[in-house]
Amino acid sequence: MRKKIVAGNWKMNKTLQEGVALATELKNILAVEKPNCEVIIGTPFIHLATLSELLKDSVIAVSAENCANKESGAYTGEVSAAMVKSTGAEYVILGHSERREYYNETPEILKEKVDLALANGLKVIFCIGESLAEREANKQEAVCKAELEGSVFHLSAEQWKNIVIAYEPIWAIGTGKTATAEQAEEIHAYIRKCVADVYGAQAADDTSILYGGSCKASNAPELFGKPDIDGGLIGGASLKAPDFKGIIDAWK
Ligand code: 13P
Repeated sequence: MRKKIVAGNWKMNKTLQEGVALATELKNILAVEKPNCEVIIGTPFIHLATLSELLKDSVIAVSAENCANKESGAYTGEVSAAMVKSTGAEYVILGHSERREYYNETPEILKEKVDLALANGLKVIFCIGESLAEREANKQEAVCKAELEGSVFHLSAEQWKNIVIAYEPIWAIGTGKTATAEQAEEIHAYIRKCVADVYGAQAADDTSILYGGSCKASNAPELFGKPDIDGGLIGGASLKAPDFKGIIDAWK
């Protein structure tokens, strides 16, 4: 059975102190009211070690938002997969459209990052999704398939077990414009079919595919109610504990 997941992506928000306050609030809320899904928070590197320690005995797992495409060495300012792992983080988000667009992360670079993350024992939340122009040209399936082929479909079946896919249509990120549950379900089912073509029906059935893009407490129940939507990758609504909890509750 594949996992139901609600993952936050704080992006470039929260000082260390603010992050600790938010994680503590969430931890306390979820200790009282156990979630019906796996809960992950994706944070900037500076929070990882502190939050991993803080959340060690909680139901919340910690994820990085990036890692380097090099193993180690003279790469000023970069953080390796081994360093992320050493903080106690379990996951890393890779392939986010903001990284692809603003930091020129190509499919080849992402493939290197994915390989290093897995080699260092991290699980990967791999993001894919089309732009508005691509959606209007009805190219969303081709775009998603190409992004999978470019960076993750070279993995072995064993490695694939550590991959979570996040479908995030770029036109829905931070815009308040959510994909309808039907639009999201359609492409999630297609993505699962692509996974089945490479790894087989069982592996596809076991793969968690998350939706991301203006997901909030009000639309999460309808989205998560679809058979191929296994949870969400949440930006804005992960920055306040009650908002994030509202989405987690969609699994109740
Ligand atoms: P929003 O939830 O703010 O639209 O962001 C989605 C996202 O990019 C998560 O990775």
